[in-house]
Amino acid sequence: TTSRRLILATKKRSVSTMANEEENVKRKLAKLFEVALKVTVPSVVDVEPLVAACTGKFGDYQCNNAMGLWSKIKGKETEFKGPPAVGQAIMRNLPQSDIIESCSVAGPGFVNVKLSRNWMAQSIQRMLIDGIDAWAPRLPVRRAVVDFSSPNIAKEMHVGHLRSTIIGDTIARMLEFSRVEVLRRNHVGDWGTQFGMLIEFLFEKFSNWEDANEAAIGDLQEFYKESKKRFDSDPDFKERAQKAVVRLQGGEQKYRKAWTQICEISRNEFNRVYQRLGVQLEEKGESFYNPYIPAVLEELTSKNLVEDSQGARVIFLEGFNIPLIVVKSDGGYNYASTDLAAIWYRLNEEKAEWMIYVTDVGQQQHFDMVFKAAKRAGWLSTDDNAYPKASHVGFGLVLGDDKKRFRTRSSEVVRLADLLDEAKSRCKTTLIERGKGDEWTEEELEQTAEAIGYGAVKYADLKSNRLTNYTFSFDQMLNDKGNTAVYLQYAHARICSIIRKSGKDIEELKSMGAIVLDHADERALGLHLLQFSEVVEEACTNLLPNVLCEYLYNLSEFFTTFYSNCQVVGSAEETSRLLLCEATATVMRKCFYLLGIVPVYKI
Ligand code: ARG
Repeated sequence: TTSRRLILATKKRSVSTMANEEENVKRKLAKLFEVALKVTVPSVVDVEPLVAACTGKFGDYQCNNAMGLWSKIKGKETEFKGPPAVGQAIMRNLPQSDIIESCSVAGPGFVNVKLSRNWMAQSIQRMLIDGIDAWAPRLPVRRAVVDFSSPNIAKEMHVGHLRSTIIGDTIARMLEFSRVEVLRRNHVGDWGTQFGMLIEFLFEKFSNWEDANEAAIGDLQEFYKESKKRFDSDPDFKERAQKAVVRLQGGEQKYRKAWTQICEISRNEFNRVYQRLGVQLEEKGESFYNPYIPAVLEELTSKNLVEDSQGARVIFLEGFNIPLIVVKSDGGYNYASTDLAAIWYRLNEEKAEWMIYVTDVGQQQHFDMVFKAAKRAGWLSTDDNAYPKASHVGFGLVLGDDKKRFRTRSSEVVRLADLLDEAKSRCKTTLIERGKGDEWTEEELEQTAEAIGYGAVKYADLKSNRLTNYTFSFDQMLNDKGNTAVYLQYAHARICSIIRKSGKDIEELKSMGAIVLDHADERALGLHLLQFSEVVEEACTNLLPNVLCEYLYNLSEFFTTFYSNCQVVGSAEETSRLLLCEATATVMRKCFYLLGIVPVYKI
């Protein structure tokens, strides 16, 4: 029959896997299965191969298309008796490839694939020679905006902003690694009516404000709170504050200058935190988009999206019981109009295809509405899987030990800088307790304490699903056992020390030696290493850094199993196993890097 002839014809064809070395295992297999599916049931076009990694003794990956195909062809004239037969045929039609060792069909037609050990070993070795960037995933997007951190001038930068900073930075790093050009944007709250009251208050407090310097001004947050109190209790002050807004927004010099100064003071404070966290950001605050708002609203109005409602200008959106206000009844613009202008700017001026916003889940509705308006305006694709698109990356609250919102004892908002100080000093104490005070220089102590301490704060934040609230606990995050950054830093440092103590030149081994994956635990470790790229791709696509944390933790577990069952130094397989150590350390370091954690090489 024709189909039999087709099967024979494809048997001989071998799809080259060398041409596209940067592709991950899953995609390589998907390509092979795509061919097999077409040959198996030529009448069904455009079936997407459903290939997924699996754990089990039957295979490393599985293709799940047989049932779906069967439901499309059953009842019609077909040579197949049921899904298992379809699975068998898919397996037979799989083109030959050096990446597959064997296949089998299980249950209702799953095609299991066992990867070739040789191919796995060679791929890992090639990564060691070419560098880990060879394993960077490919994403279907060229330029993205990551809008994160985004604190507000003169208001406190609280743990919510810490979460946004940490999650946003990781997302940006993962996308950058995946060769996406990332515009890291700090959408600072630097515009709005609050500046009227703050400036008015400061003018009152400092008779010669112009000459007052940062140190003399001190705590802007305190002044902000006091000015708010005055605003709410003193009608005379309130009126002056409202006039101040008008004068500021009208561009009056004295007010403009005060605003610039206030922003500068806050900015310096923010920058100190970013520097400690190793985070890069470019500030384009709310004020930046302000000039674009009128034209943007005009465009939306011309598209019949904006209507008058009770003195305000609003956009009614299906599925929401409140409209999106874009011009307040006093004629002023707001958070939403600014975000609409920002989307417009990012699409048209910055040519971004994907806009990612990292804020607490409390802002979900705001972004849902703004994105919906942008879709209706035709700016964003209405298909959520297509570009240009916008995504809100929401996260839960940070809780204290009492499971309530994280506060200090005096129920103040926790300051970021204090948190980082404490994490570091606790780590330093532990290092000294372990005798590192005599062994290391003061500089080494400081650097290690920072790397471990800041890394622990970041990892604790990133490891859980971002949507769930998480409890901030130094005791937990600084524990050297369990799924913590401290444990992982130790694991990595231990691998480095194994390599160091072997006395071998690892660079030389990379090109002279060879990896073999004969032992089951070597193979399991090798398979996990090879899946790095797929995991980063998944973490990027679904904007879930915890997926990468989980991978990293599992990697260290696979390594531990390997190391306890396979002697490295002094064994016949020493060269191969040292290379596996090096590959593990390399992938761990890349994970650390993507999570914004500075690795430690010795502890
Ligand atoms: N400044 C806001 C806040 O502190 C976050 C801004 C987020 N970005 C945006 N484009 N709206 O809650």
